[in-house]
Amino acid sequence: MGEKLLIAGNWKMHKTPQETREYFERFLPLVEGLEGVEILVCPPFVDLPAAAEAVAGSGVKVGGQNCHYEKEGPYTGEVSPRMLRAVGCEFVILGHSERRRLFGETDEVVNKKVVSALEEGLRVILCVGETLEERESGLTFTVVETQLKLGLSGVEDRLEMVEVAYEPVWAIGTGVAARPEDAEEVHRFIYSVLEKMNPEGAKRVRVLYGGSVKPENAEALLSQPSVKGVLVGGASLKPESFAAIAAAGARLARLK
Ligand code: 13P
Repeated sequence: MGEKLLIAGNWKMHKTPQETREYFERFLPLVEGLEGVEILVCPPFVDLPAAAEAVAGSGVKVGGQNCHYEKEGPYTGEVSPRMLRAVGCEFVILGHSERRRLFGETDEVVNKKVVSALEEGLRVILCVGETLEERESGLTFTVVETQLKLGLSGVEDRLEMVEVAYEPVWAIGTGVAARPEDAEEVHRFIYSVLEKMNPEGAKRVRVLYGGSVKPENAEALLSQPSVKGVLVGGASLKPESFAAIAAAGARLARLK
């Protein structure tokens, strides 16, 4: 068996610290002993201390959903990579389409964040993906290639610290996931772009699929050869459904 599949949950703007503690009380027993998967939960910033405390010793990891690129300074409302490390984060999600679309993050800003997070020793999950309009105009590969190249500019030699999440914007929160074979096609393309950047490093990157992943479709998506994990939004909010997705990953990991 090769590298572990990464089963990551992005809670977005959901749950308080108390709800976080209650979540892990139910979640951890459900995933105890699962092999072949690395499980990561990315709660809101204010929940991170409670989450880190709850998962201590369990093997489950916690991460941030975003960060600023400066180490510290007059950036009201922002959180730095160093602060994420200090509260126990190993990972940070960067360039999520909601950050790009709702908070105006450009590829250049995302790149600064990637560089800064890696410098601080965080593993980065860089999100890329096309909108429906872009897909219908045949621009999927162009958009994904641009986001990858600009997002990873200057850190091509550090791909072993990077994971990529392919999240087609039209599949996020819509209940309509990409068809497994369509996800596989884009994942293969992502690996081909990464290989041109850094052939050895590309092998270490896990390309995750995100967008309406549920217990019902997780197995079909994860069974695709180039799908090395999932980034789960809505279905990661319920301990039972996120655990079911992790269990599907553990079953598939044996076959990969
Ligand atoms: P949903 O799983 O709710 O579609 O969200 C996906 C996502 O954006 C994960 O980052």
